[in-house]
Amino acid sequence: MNADYFPPIIVNTAYNHTSMAETTNGTHNNINGDSAVAHANGSPATYSTPSRVTLHLGHMPSKKDIKAPWPRTPSRVDPNNPPWPAYRGYHEYSFAHATMGVRLPTILGKAIDDASRTLNEQYAEDKIVDLVECLERMDALMADLSGNAKLRPIVDDGEGDVALWNKEIAKYFQGKDFMNAPWLFAEAYKYRRLHECFSVSKYWKDYDVFYRQKCDTFSRSTDAVFELSMRFAEPFKLSENMSSKEKAESERLMFLELTQVCLWGNSTDLSLLINMTEEQIKSLQSTGGDHLAATEKNILGNHLNKLWETVKVLREKTGGRIDFVLDNAGFELYCDFVYADFLIQTGLAKQIRFHGKRYPWFVSDVTRKDWDWLLNTMVYGHLFPKASEVERESLRRLGARWKQYEKDGRWQYEQHPFWCTGYTFWDLHSEAPDLFLHLSRSDLVFFKGDLNHRKLTYDCAAPASIPFDISIGPMASAAGAPKICSLRTVKSDVVVGLGDNGDAIAEELDKEEPGWKISGKYAVVLLSEGRPGEKVRFA
Ligand code: F6P
Ligand code: MG
Repeated sequence: MNADYFPPIIVNTAYNHTSMAETTNGTHNNINGDSAVAHANGSPATYSTPSRVTLHLGHMPSKKDIKAPWPRTPSRVDPNNPPWPAYRGYHEYSFAHATMGVRLPTILGKAIDDASRTLNEQYAEDKIVDLVECLERMDALMADLSGNAKLRPIVDDGEGDVALWNKEIAKYFQGKDFMNAPWLFAEAYKYRRLHECFSVSKYWKDYDVFYRQKCDTFSRSTDAVFELSMRFAEPFKLSENMSSKEKAESERLMFLELTQVCLWGNSTDLSLLINMTEEQIKSLQSTGGDHLAATEKNILGNHLNKLWETVKVLREKTGGRIDFVLDNAGFELYCDFVYADFLIQTGLAKQIRFHGKRYPWFVSDVTRKDWDWLLNTMVYGHLFPKASEVERESLRRLGARWKQYEKDGRWQYEQHPFWCTGYTFWDLHSEAPDLFLHLSRSDLVFFKGDLNHRKLTYDCAAPASIPFDISIGPMASAAGAPKICSLRTVKSDVVVGLGDNGDAIAEELDKEEPGWKISGKYAVVLLSEGRPGEKVRFA
């Protein structure tokens, strides 16, 4: 046979992902960038390049109705086999694309500016030289990110999560790059690499490139901060003149309102606020009662009432243990505290555990330092020079009460290494069984924010009608799984739990309001059943 002659079947086997690159318009190029040519008419190699392949399949069997392999059953799920297709950086229809291609380099650029500013404030040579090396590592990371490099293992910097990271890379992501690895993993990996730039240094191990920004947004949230402090500085008390029925109703309404405060506190996260004015921040943070009634309409999956029924039961057993897997520092953490304070004061919870990050993460996430900063600035800070003395006093009193909760153990801050990994929470029970066991002892675990929601749901293209319990896999189905409540303003692609009509709702919004999944205008409050009474067993 003439070596240059390609019968159709051979040409078509070249249509696979390893040898052919997908282009944006859906055609396929070979690795040299040329259009593939099917010499379907059997003409030899002298044939000039046609622009399209046209095959006539009249002799083939007719099409069958083949069921797609989604969703996968939980036992067959791993990072290369998500329950539904994963989002990846090269998916232009997804927020993954803008994030990996534009937002992350912008965020890293700002982080480099921050470290340079700190460098310029130093006087000691050894610290300066050490920080210059951190900056060089950041430049290398920028080159990797912009050049779409392959993901390399994390350097052993002594952190508790190195083994978790490198195991996941070795098992699932060898040879993957920033754009073709699943978005969730690639994005988390970037923050871990950023931490590595500092963690291997001598003097700058704990340096937080986002710290200035985090403090700054809280100080720019004046109106909402004082709106809440003026309402809640006085310990919560129901009027003696109310009947017990009225009291119960008033408490219920207050609970629902504060759950919304806690929820919408998530809409202003720094990674999305890069260009927002103070006015825009203010409107996002509006906390008034009327505003909240209106915003309830934007809670697309709404288990608020079910949540109230759940927490009410806790008081009957003399107050439960409630956990918060925290998201953002500053204003969101402040809203979390207002809510947690209410839960303690009303006896709905007798102990609250807050789970934060061990190092700077996704720009605004809470670290121990952010936690301490907020409480101390409330009590001792001079952040709001334009506030009245009464307003400042209300903030001091709140701060003092919350610090007391921490002193007497009613509030506790914890930071497990697992929270800063690229694993989704489907892997929490297998990769961090100690943490799973710990959470399984909680009566209710709130997961705050968008990233936690992505991790709960495997950050994949699950249909919007899929029930929350199914979408979170083992976090709902494993023996001992606690009740989980996701309080999340929608800021990325995955949306689940919208009810039987959910697919139609999502489709309508796609048509009417493009961008509804990243605007932070919509939210979900979703509660799982959990399997709290059951014994936890690990394989
Ligand atoms: O970069 C995208 C993202 O991870 C989105 O999930 C969200 O827009 C943001 O970053 C983090 O949001 P949150 O602080 O609510 O987790
Ligand atoms: Mg966050």
